[in-house]
Formats: sequence, structure tokens, C-alpha cells
Amino acid sequence: MAIGVRSYDEVSLAQLRADPYPTYRTLRAEAPVAWLAPAGIHLATRFDDIMRIEKDHETFPALDLRSLQIKAMGHSLMRRDGADHGRQRRALDPTFAPGVAKRHWQPLFEDIANDIIEGLYEQGRADLFSDFAAPLASRCLMHILGLTQIDWRDLCRWSQALMDATGNYGDDPAIWARGKEAYDSIDRAIEARVPELQEAPDQSAISSMLHAEDPLDMADLRANAKVIVGGGLNEPRDATCTAVLGMLTNPDQLARVREDETLWRIVFEEAVRWIAPIGLYPRRVARRVEIGGAVLEGGDAIGLSVASACHDEDHFDDGERFDIFRKRSPHLAFGAGPHFCLGTWIARMQVGQIGVPALFHRLPNLRLDPDHEPAIEGWVFRGPTSLRVVWDA
Ligand code: HEM
Repeated sequence: MAIGVRSYDEVSLAQLRADPYPTYRTLRAEAPVAWLAPAGIHLATRFDDIMRIEKDHETFPALDLRSLQIKAMGHSLMRRDGADHGRQRRALDPTFAPGVAKRHWQPLFEDIANDIIEGLYEQGRADLFSDFAAPLASRCLMHILGLTQIDWRDLCRWSQALMDATGNYGDDPAIWARGKEAYDSIDRAIEARVPELQEAPDQSAISSMLHAEDPLDMADLRANAKVIVGGGLNEPRDATCTAVLGMLTNPDQLARVREDETLWRIVFEEAVRWIAPIGLYPRRVARRVEIGGAVLEGGDAIGLSVASACHDEDHFDDGERFDIFRKRSPHLAFGAGPHFCLGTWIARMQVGQIGVPALFHRLPNLRLDPDHEPAIEGWVFRGPTSLRVVWDA
């Protein structure tokens, strides 16, 4: 812990996993940069402090060799800075640029969403987490990555194992072991596909990295693919369930969206603001600096709680309420600065324009299953873990 930083230990990891927002509210008011003792990290919880950090990559670089993400996934673009980061990000442009989502990915994602709904329709009930959001995200991601030969269920397992390892602040050995198994399985899947993609390039991320003007070597390619396995599955999955939950618990807002379909775009943005799928991510402190009333030392690490920033009273009235008609204000669920989420345009398309609207169009009288409460958990990554619904089949 740095000098001049308040230590906060009035919460357990279990409480944070159950619901971190009350703790964030207290921290924003009392200690906006604090040492969160149970997790062993400094945490920034206010929107303006996080923006200041994200605008100053000299003082707060992304590269930190102690990073749990490097341990879990290898050294990807997400933990690089400056020209090194820019080169890797540019290599992925042909897969992720905004126009590509519409031109290339939209028709494929629509087919996948329709196929899943077709398979569910007659049942009249489903857990949207496991029966819709996970297969949609996973089947889309197989194509985005270029790993079209694998089973989408394996990709779900690998993604969860990598994300659990990245958030393993409690240092649980079983979580590291599952993460390592996923790491090795993904490497084998990449090895199997590379020769084909070398011969026949396509729009996938692995192909883009192989055929970039300045191609990435295999170590970089593997690490970036793993970051995409992690971020490209769990976040759109969780955002899908969160957006559906927001709609089903606010029927007045749903009625307005049904009258004006252009509002689906806002439903998606409000969902990721309301429950940010990535709750926090780390930055390193390169030199002594004062921020949020605390003094951090060079060598410290700090977690940026974008989930907290998305509820900051200075930017959002009554942030814990889902409200698509709230005063429009930029949120931080996709981060900010050079590492702003590369998958933003794909996620907006896949979840906001295709997946969530398709459910409401195709499943008549979609509503929460009265016998099952939705479950929501997590703080490093957060979202519904079960969302049981019924409809008139
Ligand atoms: C609702 C969905 C999503 C949310 C809320 C989200 C959130 C984020 C956030 C907060 C970051 C910044 C992390 C940091 O700086 O450490 C990030 C980065 C990133 N995301 Fe996403 N993400 C989503 C979907 C996706 C998808 C679908 C993909 C890929 C298929 C993806 C790929 C990436 C990559 C590659 C980065 C690293 C960018 C860089 O370091 O330059 N994300 N995401």
C-alpha cells in the first residue's frame, strides 16, 4: 500500500462478488482512490479520476509484468503501450473496424441468432444465459477468431477459465489450473488452423494478424487470440442478459422501444452502463503522483473501476436505475484512451442490433419466469449468471 492512501477493509471478496455497488458508492464519497485490502489492490472509483488516468499513459501505463492477465493469457496488446501497442492493434483492424461489423459480420450474426431462436421456440421457456447468450457469443466468436473447427461449448469453457484466472485476485490454485488447461487447448486449436489461414486468408482475427503489413509473430498472435477469446465471449454474453433483464423489469421502457426500434441502440449502451461487464482493469503507476486525494508511488498498481465510474453521481443521476431515457452522457464500460475496446462495434452489432431485438421480435410475450429469480454476480467481471424466461410458444 502506498503512503497517503486510505485502506478500506470493511468488505469481503464474497460481498464484492455478490454486489460491489454499495462499496463503490462509499468509496466514491469517502476515499475515491483507496487500498482495497481484501483484494490487495488500489482502486480508483470516480469517473473523472479514471479519465485522467486513461489520458496519461506516461504516468499510468498498461504494461505491468505482474498483471494477472499476462499470467493467464500471455502478453497481449492489452498490456502494451505506445508504438508497440499501436502496431498490434492496427494488425487487427481488418477484423474489427466499425464498417467491417456492418459489411461483413452482420449477415452471419443474424443467421446464428435466428438459428438459436428457432431451436428454442417450441420449448416456451429457456435460461437465456446458457440457451441463448452464451451460444450466440460463442458461435459468433468462432468466426471472428477464425477457429471455425472447434465446438462452441469448448470455447465457452475456455473463455470462462481464462476470465476466472484474470480475475483471480484470491490466488486460488484450482482457478490457475483450469486457466492453464484452457491456455493449452487454445494454443492447439490455433496451431491446427494457422496453415489453412496462411493459404486462404479471410476476415478473421487470426488471419488478420498473420497477413498484416507488419505480421505478428506466433507468441503475439497467440496472446492476442486469448484476449479475444476472453473479452469476445463473456462480455457480449453478459451484456445480452443484462439488456434483456433491463427491458423485462421495465415494461414501460420496453413498450416505448417496441414503438421506436431505433431505441435498441440506447438499450445496449444503458445496459453496459448499468452493469458493466468488465468491472475493473489495472494500470501501473510509473512515478509518484497525487490522484483522488491519495499519493501513489512509482511501481504501485491501480485498478480502474469502470463499473463504479458508470454509476458516479457527478455524471449519472440515480445510476443504479436502468433508464434508457436518462440524460445522455458518455460511459466508461468500454474503457477509454488507446485501449478503448476493440470489439465495441462488433458488440454493438451482435448484442444491441441483432441478439436482443431478435428475442423480443420472435418470442411472443417474452417475460421473466415467475418461479426463478435472475441471478447476478461478480465484481471484476459482472453479469447475470441465470436468466430464466417464458413466452407463448
Ligand atoms: C459488451 C461487450 C464488451 C465490453 C463491455 C468490453 C469492454 C472492454 C474494456 C473495458 C476494455 C479495456 C480493457 C483495458 O484497457 O484493460 C476492452 C478492451 C478490449 N476488448 Fe472489449 N468489451 C466488449 C466486447 C468485446 C468483443 C466482442 C471483443 C472481440 C471479439 C473485444 C475485444 C477487446 C480487445 C481485443 C481489447 C483490447 C484493446 C486494446 O488493448 O487496444 N471486446 N473491452
